[in-house]
Amino acid sequence: MNNDREIDLFGLKASDFGPDFKFGVATSAYQIEGGHDADGKGPSIWDTFTHKKRWPIPTVLTGENGDVACDFYHLYKQDIALMGTLGFKVNRFSISWPRILPEGNGTVNQKGLDFYSRVVDESLANGIEPWVTLYHWDLPQALQNNGGWRNRQIISSFSNYVDVVSKSLGDRVKNWMVFNEPMSFCVGGYLLGVHAPGEIGPKGFMQAVHNVNLCQAKAAQIIRTNDSSAQVGTTHVVAPIKQKGRNNNLTKAERSADALIHKIFLEPNLGMGYPVKENPIVSLVERYVVGNDYDEIKVDFDFIGVQYYSPSMAIPVPYLHSIPIPLKGVKGQDRDQMGHFVNPSGLYDALVRIDSYEGVKRLIITENGMSLPDVVEGDRVYDLRRIDYLRQHLNIVKKALDNGILVTGYFYWSFLDNFEWALGFKPQFGIVHVDKNTLKRTPKDSAYWIQKFLLN
Ligand code: NOJ
Repeated sequence: MNNDREIDLFGLKASDFGPDFKFGVATSAYQIEGGHDADGKGPSIWDTFTHKKRWPIPTVLTGENGDVACDFYHLYKQDIALMGTLGFKVNRFSISWPRILPEGNGTVNQKGLDFYSRVVDESLANGIEPWVTLYHWDLPQALQNNGGWRNRQIISSFSNYVDVVSKSLGDRVKNWMVFNEPMSFCVGGYLLGVHAPGEIGPKGFMQAVHNVNLCQAKAAQIIRTNDSSAQVGTTHVVAPIKQKGRNNNLTKAERSADALIHKIFLEPNLGMGYPVKENPIVSLVERYVVGNDYDEIKVDFDFIGVQYYSPSMAIPVPYLHSIPIPLKGVKGQDRDQMGHFVNPSGLYDALVRIDSYEGVKRLIITENGMSLPDVVEGDRVYDLRRIDYLRQHLNIVKKALDNGILVTGYFYWSFLDNFEWALGFKPQFGIVHVDKNTLKRTPKDSAYWIQKFLLN
């Protein structure tokens, strides 16, 4: 890579984070792979959702879909080689369940498994550890036809899927994340309808949440049975509520938003039950808890993945008290391309918040990144604001380490500009630009900055 840039690391270098600290990049299957029906893959809820016409609010604001995305399915070799050249030591990617089991259950599609096996091998050949997310939102459509996450049978389907994947890749994959942000796909998909499968309304929402939480524990057991040396974690969006009230006390509305965004997905697994008093919808879970669920839901994760973008705020809504939404930035420098508030100190709050739970062993920042309307000029993409974002957030990670919070990794979201769900390809989070027409990859200035930071 030709690099004639003047790069100022502002005194930061990767070695300051300790020899075992892992720097990586994160992506997900639907957002980058394309190959939506290649080699026997079945349809996922995101294939269906993106092709659905909806009025008055379209499913994807730009009308785009992930049929081709970044075509990582065919270009994975060059992409992983570039990760290696840039100095990353972790490739966090997700597995598409309907690539492995096109019907969700039943016959395994060997070609799907072979693809991920090649991704794993290619990562290792480039000196990069493969870290696998088992579910990043692309449920097989066949299972959704049967109720999806709201049907308790999902637990046996998911267990079977996890067993197949961990048996097949577990000889080389040593780090697993069961879910990506359960909050986002449960609240977005089964309550607000802004994400696939687009269900709106409270019916069965807490059933979905409870099934997901039970699946967390089941999956951890299965992975460890297949490989006792595996490290198993999961990832959560952590968006601390910015308080309006005085004395650092959350108001009732803020507490109920906090329950919905954080507590209902974290606390049952830690053996703390559901915060049934804090949001009226949460108390509905009691309809769905049966037998020994409160014992079986407990899981001793090796790590928790913290995904931080911005703080959140509570907005009042009838019946739910309130829901959490990302806090908006008010002026130029403190807004990303999606309008979210860029607030590095919120990352510190997020780490403290999760670290303070007894039972959480260590943290990894499995996502953190900034969307910007980057423009390519020749073979150069000037993204100074992303460099500044990285500098500020990495300084916060350093501060957390210095203050004794056990954080053992930082994965930037995202490696490539990719399909940002209901917003299409508009928000660009990548450190590598992807031309939508030619699929040409162009590392941005931030990629060169990270390269120097990592290899210095
Ligand atoms: C979290 C999600 O895991 C990821 O899929 C998404 O693209 C980023 N946030 C940015 O919104």
